[in-house]
Amino acid sequence: MRRTVVITGASSGIGAEAAVQLARRGDHVVLIGRSPRKLSAVVDRIRADSGSTPDSHVCDFAVLDDLRRTGATIAAAYEVIDVLANNAGIIAKQNTSTVDGHDLTIQVNHLAPFLLSSLLLERVTAAPAGRIITTSSAAHTRGWLDPDDLDFRRRRWSRWRAYADSKQANILFTTELTWRLRHTVVVATCFHPGLVRSDFGDSTGLFRLVKRLSPVGFVSPSQGASTLVQLATTDDGRSIPGAYLDSGRLSRPTSRAVDPDLAERLWKVSAELTAG
Ligand SMILES: NC(=O)c1ccc[n+]([C@@H]2O[C@H](COP(=O)([O-])OP(=O)(O)OC[C@H]3O[C@@H](n4cnc5c(N)ncnc54)[C@H](OP(=O)(O)O)[C@@H]3O)[C@@H](O)[C@H]2O)c1
Repeated sequence: MRRTVVITGASSGIGAEAAVQLARRGDHVVLIGRSPRKLSAVVDRIRADSGSTPDSHVCDFAVLDDLRRTGATIAAAYEVIDVLANNAGIIAKQNTSTVDGHDLTIQVNHLAPFLLSSLLLERVTAAPAGRIITTSSAAHTRGWLDPDDLDFRRRRWSRWRAYADSKQANILFTTELTWRLRHTVVVATCFHPGLVRSDFGDSTGLFRLVKRLSPVGFVSPSQGASTLVQLATTDDGRSIPGAYLDSGRLSRPTSRAVDPDLAERLWKVSAELTAG
């Protein structure tokens, strides 16, 4: 039976490469991206590469209503989703508030995947061995997320603080999801892909400069996608619910990123903030 794999951030970098690799292995991939032009280029690439035609959805995670529409469309189209890969992510250049009133980085990187996972959970639970994979980052170690101040109203904002908090949120989400899904066959995992030479961080001059000037330490998007593919296809993606992998290897996140009380508090706040 052909698996259905939904991938966000599939129009570029890690998500696009993971989509190509999974389609090559025979999965039906459902791509979500923001740029119609980039998304359509990935569709063409997969068609040429594997002969299969992926479905694609343009959606802006900075607009929760857009995500609600896309989630409903996908839930209506598939009875079963075998893998949901929450991979889209940014580091915002400026302290920007979305139309929903949230910090842009926190919304795109955490609240949006939280909402999409809620909208598609029933479909993933219907799969014989469902998987929910979230792309986090080693940057989570710098996070000091406060569920009562997710949007930096009381704390000083910096782009790296917001990013680190959002990546800590990805692991806390996986931790709480694992607890909530303990009586189901769905397994949630997350990972750091390594430092990847993708479009990521191009809005921040420093990261772009480091990426250009010091290619050592950076891997290609295709290599960056390998941990996502590993979690989507191998036993490593099912044997340890809640696992965090760093570049293909089981790793230990900071204790704060797996704190069960913090994870539960974040879940409750996220559910309130994304309620329609
Ligand atoms: N690159 C690294 O070194 C690195 C390291 C650790 C973790 N990560 C994580 O890896 C994930 C993928 O990043 P990448 O390296 O592949 O970067 P990328 O090439 O910049 O890809 C980011 C993806 O996220 C999508 N996206 C951005 N804003 C969006 C929005 N408002 N709504 C919907 N989709 C949006 C982009 O869509 P469009 O292109 O269509 O705008 C793109 O498909 C991110 O979660 C990032 O935090 C990356």
